Amino acid sequence: MRVVLLGPPGAGKGTQAARLAEALRVVHLSSGDILRAERAARTRLGQEAQRYMDSGALVPDEVVLEMMAGRMQSSDAEAGFVLDGFPRTIPQAEGLDRRLEAAHRPIDRVVNIEVSDEVVTPRLTGRWSCPKDGRVYHEQYSPPKSAGTCDICGTALVRRRDDEPSVVRQRLATYHAETKPLIDYYRRRGVLASVNGDGEIDVVFESIRAACRGSG
Ligand code: AP5
Repeated sequence: MRVVLLGPPGAGKGTQAARLAEALRVVHLSSGDILRAERAARTRLGQEAQRYMDSGALVPDEVVLEMMAGRMQSSDAEAGFVLDGFPRTIPQAEGLDRRLEAAHRPIDRVVNIEVSDEVVTPRLTGRWSCPKDGRVYHEQYSPPKSAGTCDICGTALVRRRDDEPSVVRQRLATYHAETKPLIDYYRRRGVLASVNGDGEIDVVFESIRAACRGSG
């Protein structure tokens, strides 16, 4: 199955995509995680992406499209995937559709996680993540068992640079201007389902699963 999770920064895309990919036995592909890994490895792509990410702007479409297209062609994506953070603009969505339709592998379902800016802001400023395995925590809503360390691998948790309040404001503005139009784009294509993302993580997950079961 091929699924896209849409939603503003902090909607819970990463949290839910990891669970959904496990449940569907497909790979979770997060454009943000892939870009952060490139940055940590100091590749040319990572260095180019850094200034956009640190300011809350989007990395140029053609750069992200090539990066994600390459990743989707890997053997572990043959059974399907859950896309998280991609596509994020109309040109990215059109480029993705062109590639998937040429391969006769169209998107089955796009799930839009609806959450207000007021709800997502404290989620982002209280987020901690594991730099090794990418697992995401929240100091209040989903704390690790032992403060400051990853439950799975014991690595010290870190805060993302772009979760600083001024950058969060810019990321939300970028979302409203450039990503929100994708809701109508996918509605017109007949693959959109919307779920309420302002609830317990397990409850939101059940809504997302139900939305995916309902896909053709
Ligand atoms: P990216 O990493 O994709 O960031 P984002 O979309 O802003 O999303 P987040 O990862 O911040 O939030 P999320 O929705 O995944 O929420 P999460 O599950 O972590 O992108 C970062 C940057 O990379 C971009 O700004 C851009 O520069 C660049 N980039 C990436 N993709 C790009 C693309 N396609 N094109 C161009 N540029 C691109 O949850 C957040 C917190 O809330 C966590 O602490 C979590 O524990 C908690 N939480 C989750 N759900 C709940 C709940 N239901 N209740 C309470 N707490 C919850």
